[in-house]
Amino acid sequence: MGVFATSADSSGTGHEQVVFCQDKQSGLRAIIGIYSTALGPALGGTRFYPYATEDEAVADVLDLSRGMAYKNALAGLDLGGGKAVIWGDPEQIKTEPLLRAYGRFVESLAGRYYTACDVGTYVPDMDVIARETRYVTGRSVEHGGAGDSSILTAWGVFQGMRAAAEHVWGTPTLAGRRVGVAGLGKVGKYLTGHLIDDGASVVATDVNERALDWARRTYPQVDLVAGTDELIATDLDVYAPCALGGALNDDTVPVLRAKVVAGAANNQLAHPGIEKLLADRGILYAPDYVVNAGGVIQVADEIEGFNFERAKLRATRIYDTTREILRLADAEGVPPAVAADRLAERRMAEVGRLRTIHLR
Ligand code: NAI
Repeated sequence: MGVFATSADSSGTGHEQVVFCQDKQSGLRAIIGIYSTALGPALGGTRFYPYATEDEAVADVLDLSRGMAYKNALAGLDLGGGKAVIWGDPEQIKTEPLLRAYGRFVESLAGRYYTACDVGTYVPDMDVIARETRYVTGRSVEHGGAGDSSILTAWGVFQGMRAAAEHVWGTPTLAGRRVGVAGLGKVGKYLTGHLIDDGASVVATDVNERALDWARRTYPQVDLVAGTDELIATDLDVYAPCALGGALNDDTVPVLRAKVVAGAANNQLAHPGIEKLLADRGILYAPDYVVNAGGVIQVADEIEGFNFERAKLRATRIYDTTREILRLADAEGVPPAVAADRLAERRMAEVGRLRTIHLR
């Protein structure tokens, strides 16, 4: 299917711009997708991944860039949504010339798109890309960057979870609740700390023995279980997927015992319709892209000159945004994921419209 057809979506909008970039010598094949600049320059990371086909790469960049527009809109940022993919195995082809060639293509968009890290790209890569373009964030501390984004991602997830707890149990705290954390990676670790400080009891799992060792050493009070299947069948109040996407699917939702789902993982809903399945089972789902926006809030702050306290304050507002979405979902009789999309579309339309007021 062609890019125009693939890009058409149910909101009646499509992508503004999709740019194919090639530099044969370095092996660069990149696609930059700009979904919307209604709120400002498009911001979103670069995924470096060995897609099986070009169609798969196109589908991913279109999906991811659209998702960023919604995430950035609800995070209250003056930024639109974009994303890029570099097609290939980073272990095999990532070199300085390739990253710098990519940087020059980003620069050629003259600020319509800001890039950052994603799967397969890391902070040092952003420093290399920055040698060719101003439009890159998520840089190292030595270069004025903010460093590890998982700190504010975890903080934001915790805030979203507090709002969900308030919606279900009447108080914005996890004290006395049993929270299941799937994935004790960068975000899961910080999240576990916030939950324990708040008085929750945590049960967790990870496939990586080192992550489990970390938990045994740092938080001996955390109960560790053998896998995600066991975790979701546990008597939980809250389930926090913090590993890979697709955690909420036709197999897991029917057996899930938690009343609330709020976690960091991107794309938790395996397919459209799962949000309805959750609602039918009386499980409140705090949309992933709302509660995990702390990371993008951090890299967006870096564009202004990073200030941790300011960024943390913005990430704290994820509590208010989640509350508003849950209220709207109830008022409109729709699942929270639908309410979140509506709120994002409203902000893009209402604030984006102001650009029609002509300024010299
Ligand atoms: P990470 O790679 O540091 O941690 C993921 C953890 O999940 C690892 O410890 C891994 O061993 C574990 N894991 C993988 N498969 C598992 C399974 N089947 N069962 C249990 N554990 C499993 O990644 P990070 O940065 O902590 O991110 C976690 C999730 O949050 C990802 O989906 C990521 O896309 C998302 N996210 C992260 C942000 C950030 O700032 N780091 C920002 C927004 C979203």
